[in-house]
Amino acid sequence: MLIDRFGRAIEYLRLSVTDRCDLRCNYCLPKGFKHFEEPDNWLTFDEIERVVAVFARLGTRRVRLTGGEPLLRRNLPQLAARLSALPGLEDLSLTTNGTQLSRHAAALHAAGVRRINLSLDSLRRDCVAEITGSDSLPKVLEGLMAAKEAGFAPIKINMVAMQGVNEQDIEAMTAFCIEHGFILRLIEAMPMGDTGRSAHYLDLQPVMRRLCQQFDLVEQAKSLGGGPARYWSSRDGSFSLGMITPISQHFCATCNRVRLSVDGTLYMCLGQEEKMELRPLLRAGIDDAGLEAALREAIELKPERHEFRERPQKLVRFMSMTGG
Ligand code: 5AD
Ligand code: SF4
Repeated sequence: MLIDRFGRAIEYLRLSVTDRCDLRCNYCLPKGFKHFEEPDNWLTFDEIERVVAVFARLGTRRVRLTGGEPLLRRNLPQLAARLSALPGLEDLSLTTNGTQLSRHAAALHAAGVRRINLSLDSLRRDCVAEITGSDSLPKVLEGLMAAKEAGFAPIKINMVAMQGVNEQDIEAMTAFCIEHGFILRLIEAMPMGDTGRSAHYLDLQPVMRRLCQQFDLVEQAKSLGGGPARYWSSRDGSFSLGMITPISQHFCATCNRVRLSVDGTLYMCLGQEEKMELRPLLRAGIDDAGLEAALREAIELKPERHEFRERPQKLVRFMSMTGG
Protein backbone atom coordinates (compact mmCIF):
# COMPACT_ATOMS: atom_id res chain seq x y z
CA MET A 1 0.00 0.00 0.00
CA LEU A 2 1.05 3.57 -0.66
CA ILE A 3 0.29 5.71 2.40
CA ASP A 4 1.37 9.35 2.54
CA ARG A 5 2.62 11.42 5.49
CA PHE A 6 -0.94 12.40 6.32
CA GLY A 7 -2.23 8.84 6.47
CA ARG A 8 -4.00 8.95 3.12
CA ALA A 9 -3.98 5.73 1.08
CA ILE A 10 -3.14 6.47 -2.55
CA GLU A 11 -5.08 3.98 -4.64
CA TYR A 12 -6.08 6.02 -7.67
CA LEU A 13 -3.91 7.11 -10.59
CA ARG A 14 -4.91 9.71 -13.14
CA LEU A 15 -2.93 9.03 -16.27
CA SER A 16 -2.54 11.75 -18.89
CA VAL A 17 -1.80 10.11 -22.24
CA THR A 18 -1.34 13.39 -24.12
CA ASP A 19 -1.24 17.07 -23.22
CA ARG A 20 -2.72 18.05 -26.60
CA CYS A 21 -6.31 18.96 -27.12
CA ASP A 22 -8.53 19.85 -30.05
CA LEU A 23 -10.45 22.33 -27.89
CA ARG A 24 -9.37 25.44 -25.99
CA CYS A 25 -11.70 25.63 -23.02
CA ASN A 26 -11.11 29.07 -21.62
CA TYR A 27 -10.69 27.79 -18.03
CA CYS A 28 -8.04 25.32 -19.17
CA LEU A 29 -5.81 26.44 -22.04
CA PRO A 30 -5.02 29.91 -23.39
CA LYS A 31 -5.91 30.60 -27.04
CA GLY A 32 -2.89 30.03 -29.26
CA PHE A 33 -1.12 27.93 -26.62
CA LYS A 34 1.77 26.09 -28.26
CA HIS A 35 3.99 24.73 -25.53
CA PHE A 36 3.09 21.10 -25.89
CA GLU A 37 5.38 18.27 -24.93
CA GLU A 38 7.73 16.88 -27.63
CA PRO A 39 6.71 13.39 -28.85
CA ASP A 40 10.18 12.10 -27.90
CA ASN A 41 9.29 12.86 -24.31
CA TRP A 42 5.96 11.05 -24.34
CA LEU A 43 6.03 7.87 -22.35
CA THR A 44 5.54 4.93 -24.71
CA PHE A 45 2.76 2.40 -24.12
CA ASP A 46 5.43 0.00 -22.80
CA GLU A 47 6.66 2.60 -20.32
CA ILE A 48 3.14 3.51 -19.23
CA GLU A 49 2.24 -0.13 -18.73
CA ARG A 50 5.34 -0.68 -16.59
CA VAL A 51 4.57 2.25 -14.32
CA VAL A 52 0.91 1.29 -13.96
CA ALA A 53 1.85 -2.32 -13.22
CA VAL A 54 4.07 -1.17 -10.34
CA PHE A 55 1.31 1.12 -9.05
CA ALA A 56 -1.10 -1.81 -9.19
CA ARG A 57 1.31 -3.98 -7.21
CA LEU A 58 1.42 -1.21 -4.60
CA GLY A 59 -2.36 -1.22 -4.20
CA THR A 60 -3.66 1.08 -6.91
CA ARG A 61 -7.03 -0.30 -7.99
CA ARG A 62 -8.29 2.45 -10.24
CA VAL A 63 -6.81 4.26 -13.23
CA ARG A 64 -8.39 7.06 -15.22
CA LEU A 65 -7.14 7.97 -18.69
CA THR A 66 -7.03 11.74 -19.15
CA GLY A 67 -5.40 14.36 -21.37
CA GLY A 68 -5.38 17.01 -22.77
CA GLU A 69 -7.83 15.04 -24.80
CA PRO A 70 -6.92 11.35 -24.38
CA LEU A 71 -8.54 10.26 -27.65
CA LEU A 72 -5.92 12.30 -29.53
CA ARG A 73 -3.33 9.72 -28.46
CA ARG A 74 -3.15 7.25 -31.33
CA ASN A 75 -4.29 3.68 -30.59
CA LEU A 76 -5.62 4.55 -27.15
CA PRO A 77 -7.91 1.47 -27.09
CA GLN A 78 -4.77 -0.71 -27.40
CA LEU A 79 -3.28 0.92 -24.32
CA ALA A 80 -6.61 0.56 -22.51
CA ALA A 81 -6.68 -3.17 -23.27
CA ARG A 82 -3.14 -3.62 -21.93
CA LEU A 83 -3.92 -1.73 -18.74
CA SER A 84 -7.21 -3.44 -18.03
CA ALA A 85 -5.41 -6.80 -18.27
CA LEU A 86 -2.98 -5.88 -15.46
CA PRO A 87 -3.41 -7.92 -12.28
CA GLY A 88 -4.89 -5.85 -9.47
CA LEU A 89 -6.47 -3.17 -11.62
CA GLU A 90 -10.21 -3.20 -11.13
CA ASP A 91 -11.43 -0.02 -12.67
CA LEU A 92 -10.31 1.70 -15.86
CA SER A 93 -12.12 4.89 -16.79
CA LEU A 94 -11.80 7.77 -19.22
CA THR A 95 -12.32 11.52 -19.11
CA THR A 96 -12.93 12.97 -22.58
CA ASN A 97 -14.22 16.08 -24.29
CA GLY A 98 -16.25 13.82 -26.58
CA THR A 99 -15.28 15.29 -29.95
CA GLN A 100 -13.75 12.00 -31.16
CA LEU A 101 -15.82 9.67 -29.04
CA SER A 102 -18.32 8.49 -31.65
CA ARG A 103 -15.45 6.82 -33.56
CA HIS A 104 -13.84 5.17 -30.54
CA ALA A 105 -16.64 4.34 -28.10
CA ALA A 106 -17.13 0.72 -29.15
CA ALA A 107 -13.38 -0.07 -29.23
CA LEU A 108 -12.86 1.51 -25.81
CA HIS A 109 -15.66 -0.50 -24.31
CA ALA A 110 -14.27 -3.68 -25.85
CA ALA A 111 -10.87 -2.77 -24.35
CA GLY A 112 -12.30 -2.80 -20.84
CA VAL A 113 -13.08 0.86 -20.20
CA ARG A 114 -16.41 0.93 -18.38
CA ARG A 115 -16.91 4.40 -17.02
CA ILE A 116 -16.76 7.64 -18.95
CA ASN A 117 -16.74 11.24 -17.78
CA LEU A 118 -17.49 13.73 -20.51
CA SER A 119 -16.93 17.48 -20.32
CA LEU A 120 -19.94 19.51 -21.40
CA ASP A 121 -20.66 22.98 -20.09
CA SER A 122 -23.87 23.92 -21.91
CA LEU A 123 -26.43 22.68 -24.40
CA ARG A 124 -26.41 26.00 -26.24
CA ARG A 125 -24.25 25.75 -29.31
CA ASP A 126 -23.00 29.34 -29.14
CA CYS A 127 -22.17 29.05 -25.45
CA VAL A 128 -20.15 25.87 -26.03
CA ALA A 129 -18.39 27.53 -28.97
CA GLU A 130 -17.56 30.51 -26.77
CA ILE A 131 -16.13 28.35 -23.96
CA THR A 132 -14.29 25.74 -26.06
CA GLY A 133 -13.16 28.02 -28.90
CA SER A 134 -14.88 25.98 -31.61
CA ASP A 135 -18.33 24.85 -32.70
CA SER A 136 -17.96 21.50 -30.97
CA LEU A 137 -21.43 20.79 -29.53
CA PRO A 138 -22.80 18.60 -32.38
CA LYS A 139 -19.78 16.26 -32.38
CA VAL A 140 -19.77 16.08 -28.59
CA LEU A 141 -23.45 15.14 -28.45
CA GLU A 142 -22.85 12.54 -31.14
CA GLY A 143 -20.00 11.10 -29.07
CA LEU A 144 -22.10 11.11 -25.94
CA MET A 145 -24.90 9.17 -27.59
CA ALA A 146 -22.39 6.71 -29.06
CA ALA A 147 -21.04 6.10 -25.55
CA LYS A 148 -24.54 5.45 -24.23
CA GLU A 149 -25.14 3.08 -27.15
CA ALA A 150 -21.84 1.25 -26.49
CA GLY A 151 -23.00 0.47 -22.96
CA PHE A 152 -20.83 2.68 -20.79
CA ALA A 153 -22.27 3.05 -17.30
CA PRO A 154 -22.30 5.28 -15.53
CA ILE A 155 -21.77 8.22 -17.85
CA LYS A 156 -20.97 11.36 -15.92
CA ILE A 157 -21.19 14.83 -17.41
CA ASN A 158 -18.71 17.35 -16.01
CA MET A 159 -19.94 20.91 -16.16
CA VAL A 160 -17.63 23.70 -15.01
CA ALA A 161 -20.14 26.22 -13.68
CA MET A 162 -19.19 29.81 -14.36
CA GLN A 163 -20.88 32.99 -13.30
CA GLY A 164 -22.22 34.99 -16.24
CA VAL A 165 -21.18 32.27 -18.70
CA ASN A 166 -23.25 29.13 -18.23
CA GLU A 167 -24.89 29.43 -14.81
CA GLN A 168 -28.24 29.91 -16.58
CA ASP A 169 -27.76 26.49 -18.26
CA ILE A 170 -27.67 24.41 -15.09
CA GLU A 171 -31.42 23.63 -15.05
CA ALA A 172 -31.45 22.62 -18.73
CA MET A 173 -28.38 20.42 -18.21
CA THR A 174 -30.07 18.79 -15.21
CA ALA A 175 -33.23 18.05 -17.21
CA PHE A 176 -31.13 16.68 -20.10
CA CYS A 177 -29.22 14.33 -17.77
CA ILE A 178 -32.43 13.15 -16.10
CA GLU A 179 -33.85 12.36 -19.54
CA HIS A 180 -30.82 10.33 -20.65
CA GLY A 181 -29.78 8.72 -17.38
CA PHE A 182 -26.49 10.60 -17.11
CA ILE A 183 -25.02 11.75 -13.81
CA LEU A 184 -24.42 15.51 -13.81
CA ARG A 185 -21.49 16.95 -11.89
CA LEU A 186 -21.14 20.65 -11.31
CA ILE A 187 -17.55 21.76 -10.82
CA GLU A 188 -16.25 25.02 -9.38
CA ALA A 189 -13.68 26.57 -11.71
CA MET A 190 -10.20 26.21 -10.26
CA PRO A 191 -7.55 28.87 -10.71
CA MET A 192 -5.24 26.89 -12.99
CA GLY A 193 -2.78 28.97 -14.97
CA ASP A 194 -3.70 32.30 -16.52
CA THR A 195 -6.98 31.15 -17.96
CA GLY A 196 -8.33 29.40 -14.93
CA ARG A 197 -7.52 32.40 -12.79
CA SER A 198 -9.77 34.64 -14.80
CA ALA A 199 -12.65 32.15 -14.94
CA HIS A 200 -15.87 33.48 -13.46
CA TYR A 201 -16.02 31.75 -10.11
CA LEU A 202 -19.51 30.65 -9.06
CA ASP A 203 -20.21 29.43 -5.53
CA LEU A 204 -22.11 26.17 -5.95
CA GLN A 205 -23.60 25.89 -2.47
CA PRO A 206 -26.63 28.17 -3.17
CA VAL A 207 -27.04 26.62 -6.64
CA MET A 208 -27.34 23.21 -5.05
CA ARG A 209 -30.00 24.36 -2.59
CA ARG A 210 -32.05 25.70 -5.52
CA LEU A 211 -31.71 22.47 -7.54
CA CYS A 212 -32.71 20.31 -4.57
CA GLN A 213 -36.01 22.18 -4.32
CA GLN A 214 -36.70 22.34 -8.01
CA PHE A 215 -35.89 18.69 -8.81
CA ASP A 216 -36.76 17.21 -5.39
CA LEU A 217 -33.30 15.80 -4.69
CA VAL A 218 -32.00 14.32 -1.43
CA GLU A 219 -28.38 14.20 -0.31
CA GLN A 220 -26.62 10.82 -0.50
CA ALA A 221 -24.54 9.67 2.44
CA LYS A 222 -22.04 7.70 0.41
CA SER A 223 -20.03 8.93 -2.53
CA LEU A 224 -20.48 7.40 -5.97
CA GLY A 225 -17.10 6.41 -7.35
CA GLY A 226 -14.78 7.23 -4.48
CA GLY A 227 -13.89 10.76 -5.57
CA PRO A 228 -14.44 14.18 -4.03
CA ALA A 229 -17.94 14.77 -5.41
CA ARG A 230 -20.90 15.02 -3.02
CA TYR A 231 -24.08 13.61 -4.49
CA TRP A 232 -27.81 14.24 -4.38
CA SER A 233 -30.34 11.87 -5.92
CA SER A 234 -33.96 11.81 -6.96
CA ARG A 235 -36.17 9.89 -4.52
CA ASP A 236 -36.50 6.91 -6.87
CA GLY A 237 -32.70 6.86 -7.26
CA SER A 238 -32.84 7.11 -11.05
CA PHE A 239 -30.94 10.38 -11.22
CA SER A 240 -27.89 11.72 -9.39
CA LEU A 241 -26.31 15.11 -9.35
CA GLY A 242 -22.86 15.72 -7.94
CA MET A 243 -21.00 18.80 -6.88
CA ILE A 244 -17.23 19.22 -6.85
CA THR A 245 -16.24 22.23 -4.77
CA PRO A 246 -12.45 22.53 -4.62
CA ILE A 247 -12.76 26.20 -3.70
CA SER A 248 -15.77 26.67 -1.40
CA GLN A 249 -15.13 23.34 0.39
CA HIS A 250 -11.88 21.61 -0.34
CA PHE A 251 -11.62 17.87 0.11
CA CYS A 252 -7.87 17.38 0.38
CA ALA A 253 -8.14 15.45 3.65
CA THR A 254 -9.50 12.45 1.77
CA CYS A 255 -7.35 12.82 -1.36
CA ASN A 256 -6.54 9.37 -2.70
CA ARG A 257 -4.79 10.18 -5.97
CA VAL A 258 -1.68 11.19 -7.85
CA ARG A 259 -1.30 12.22 -11.50
CA LEU A 260 1.13 11.06 -14.15
CA SER A 261 1.66 13.42 -17.09
CA VAL A 262 2.51 12.29 -20.60
CA ASP A 263 6.21 13.12 -20.12
CA GLY A 264 6.41 10.82 -17.13
CA THR A 265 6.22 13.41 -14.37
CA LEU A 266 4.33 12.23 -11.34
CA TYR A 267 2.48 15.20 -9.81
CA MET A 268 1.55 14.83 -6.20
CA CYS A 269 -1.18 17.50 -6.09
CA LEU A 270 -3.29 19.33 -8.67
CA GLY A 271 -2.49 22.66 -7.04
CA GLN A 272 1.11 22.24 -5.86
CA GLU A 273 4.57 21.80 -7.37
CA GLU A 274 5.75 18.59 -5.71
CA LYS A 275 6.62 16.01 -8.35
CA MET A 276 8.89 13.17 -9.35
CA GLU A 277 10.33 12.68 -12.83
CA LEU A 278 9.93 9.02 -13.76
CA ARG A 279 10.98 9.23 -17.43
CA PRO A 280 14.73 9.59 -16.76
CA LEU A 281 14.55 6.62 -14.40
CA LEU A 282 12.65 4.50 -16.93
CA ARG A 283 15.03 5.39 -19.74
CA ALA A 284 18.08 4.69 -17.58
CA GLY A 285 16.80 1.13 -17.24
CA ILE A 286 15.58 1.16 -13.63
CA ASP A 287 14.25 -2.23 -12.48
CA ASP A 288 10.84 -2.82 -10.89
CA ALA A 289 12.21 -2.75 -7.35
CA GLY A 290 13.83 0.61 -8.09
CA LEU A 291 10.63 1.94 -9.58
CA GLU A 292 8.70 0.79 -6.56
CA ALA A 293 11.14 2.60 -4.28
CA ALA A 294 10.82 5.74 -6.41
CA LEU A 295 7.03 5.69 -6.11
CA ARG A 296 7.22 5.28 -2.35
CA GLU A 297 9.64 8.20 -2.19
CA ALA A 298 7.32 10.30 -4.36
CA ILE A 299 4.32 9.64 -2.11
CA GLU A 300 6.33 11.04 0.81
CA LEU A 301 6.34 14.37 -1.05
CA LYS A 302 2.57 14.62 -1.31
CA PRO A 303 1.50 17.94 0.24
CA GLU A 304 -1.37 18.23 2.67
CA ARG A 305 -3.60 20.38 0.46
CA HIS A 306 -3.88 22.87 -2.38
CA GLU A 307 -4.08 26.62 -1.77
CA PHE A 308 -6.43 27.67 -4.56
CA ARG A 309 -8.40 29.88 -2.24
CA GLU A 310 -5.54 31.40 -0.27
CA ARG A 311 -3.20 31.89 -3.22
CA PRO A 312 -5.27 31.92 -6.43
CA GLN A 313 -2.57 33.97 -8.15
CA LYS A 314 -0.02 31.19 -7.79
CA LEU A 315 0.57 29.66 -11.20
CA VAL A 316 1.15 25.96 -10.89
CA ARG A 317 0.41 24.48 -14.32
CA PHE A 318 -2.29 24.26 -16.93
CA MET A 319 -5.04 21.67 -16.49
CA SER A 320 -4.15 20.23 -19.90
CA MET A 321 -0.95 18.82 -18.37
CA THR A 322 -2.79 16.59 -15.95
CA GLY A 323 -6.37 16.43 -17.20
CA GLY A 324 -8.05 17.60 -14.01
N1 5AD B 1 -11.46 24.28 -13.12
C1 5AD B 1 -12.30 23.23 -12.94
N2 5AD B 1 -12.38 22.20 -13.78
C2 5AD B 1 -11.58 22.24 -14.86
N3 5AD B 1 -11.43 21.37 -15.86
C3 5AD B 1 -10.48 21.83 -16.69
N4 5AD B 1 -10.00 23.02 -16.25
C4 5AD B 1 -10.68 23.29 -15.11
C5 5AD B 1 -10.64 24.37 -14.16
N5 5AD B 1 -9.82 25.42 -14.31
C6 5AD B 1 -12.19 20.12 -15.99
C7 5AD B 1 -12.94 19.96 -17.26
C8 5AD B 1 -12.89 18.48 -17.49
C9 5AD B 1 -11.81 17.96 -16.63
C10 5AD B 1 -10.75 17.28 -17.43
O1 5AD B 1 -11.27 19.06 -15.94
O2 5AD B 1 -14.27 20.31 -17.20
O3 5AD B 1 -14.11 17.87 -17.14
FE1 SF4 C 1 -9.21 20.18 -23.55
FE2 SF4 C 1 -10.28 19.25 -21.36
FE3 SF4 C 1 -8.72 21.36 -21.27
FE4 SF4 C 1 -11.09 21.59 -22.39
S1 SF4 C 1 -10.70 21.09 -20.25
S2 SF4 C 1 -9.14 22.37 -23.23
S3 SF4 C 1 -11.36 19.60 -23.27
S4 SF4 C 1 -8.09 19.33 -21.80
